[in-house]
Amino acid sequence: MPVTNKATLQAYRASLLHFTADPALHQNAHVWHEDGLLLVKDGYIQVAGDYAQLNTNLSPETTMHDYRGKVIMPGFIDTHVHYPQTDMIASPAPGLLPWLETYTFPTERPFSDGPHAREVASFFLDQLLRCGTTTAMVYCTVHPASVEAFFTESEARNVRMVAGKVLMDRNCPPFLQDTAQDGILESEALIKKWHKRGRQMYAITPRFAATSSPEQLQLAGDLAAAYPDTYIQTHVAENRDEVAWIKSLFPRARSYLDVYDQYGLMRSRAMYAHCIWLDGVDRERMAETQAAVAICPTSNLFLGSGLFDFNGADAAKLHLSLGTDVGAGTSFSMLQTMNETYKVARMGGCYLSALRMFYLATLGAARSMQLEGTIGNFTAGAEADFIVLDPQATPLLARRTACANSLDELLFVLALLGDDRAVAATYVAGCLRYSRKQ
Ligand code: GUN
Ligand code: ZN
Repeated sequence: MPVTNKATLQAYRASLLHFTADPALHQNAHVWHEDGLLLVKDGYIQVAGDYAQLNTNLSPETTMHDYRGKVIMPGFIDTHVHYPQTDMIASPAPGLLPWLETYTFPTERPFSDGPHAREVASFFLDQLLRCGTTTAMVYCTVHPASVEAFFTESEARNVRMVAGKVLMDRNCPPFLQDTAQDGILESEALIKKWHKRGRQMYAITPRFAATSSPEQLQLAGDLAAAYPDTYIQTHVAENRDEVAWIKSLFPRARSYLDVYDQYGLMRSRAMYAHCIWLDGVDRERMAETQAAVAICPTSNLFLGSGLFDFNGADAAKLHLSLGTDVGAGTSFSMLQTMNETYKVARMGGCYLSALRMFYLATLGAARSMQLEGTIGNFTAGAEADFIVLDPQATPLLARRTACANSLDELLFVLALLGDDRAVAATYVAGCLRYSRKQ
């Protein structure tokens, strides 16, 4: 590994699943080939179809990979995660603000050191691949060296990643503070070096409104306007104490979200994590501006932050996606993230089908990131990031999936009982990057 599957046509035989629309809005939103064939050339999808149909025209040089009994689908997309928090996953605290003070800030301190940051980034990226995640929106730390380290490692794996230097110039320990001016200059230098270099993309990353001065937020908005094809990522309305704090810091803002709106930080390619304590006006602004939501249920349950309102979000037609939010999130696995997503939705009186959850973790996320056609499904010409899921990965999965009566039930069982063990292989741009030991 990596196996470079270059010029010759690569054919993967398995059950195939991908989406062309949101299953909540369209009846025929998914494509399923029970005995399917995925054809990949030079790292791009050529076609996904029925084995019986596609097999007849294959040239003799085609390499056949036999994954019968397994399910091939697009790689998962995690739209909110912090790589520097890898080593502090599962750190208990009574809520967001004490958790940040006690664990997060001290853990982020050593990322000024390039070799430390490289080592953690390398482990983190391998962990994502092991879980079947091929794209993520990633927070680094305040240190430019943490971004250099991350992109160096992601470029080496040729994964499509979005990441950025955290901006924070107040209300945090001095060892993590930048200044309004320096933070923006450092971000701009990183944009020039890394944005759209290979598969890397940059996200302007004010941590949250509490740790940025009004001046820094304004400069971040100006930077986002100067580089409209970069991403923006931040946290909003995660926790009640945090919301009250923001109200005291920005007394003139209508709401927490309105702070970001005032500084020009709402637009397409902006990813807002959590969005729990929004009101109807906020949701309307999210929809109008095409800003997207990263729903982070394992984190929200772990910190006791609150329950995301799926009915409210759907009524406002928001762009939704799922984030692990490690280290507040408790798993790198998007299957485990779906598991908790389902329960959070139930607590709010909403029923999410398994198809919808797999859509949110693939095409829904790609759409939220304006990357439809590039990643997220098997449309011809898309980048060939895909995973092989094993319904028989564990004795319990094998037993339970054997009596699944529908596709939705099979997917539901994979989401509820699956984790990294259910990922047999992960392919990135047509190359095998992770293969589970048998
Ligand atoms: N709000 C500000 N910073 C963070 C963070 O690192 N994690 C989470 N979950 N919320 C935040
Ligand atoms: Zn977060």
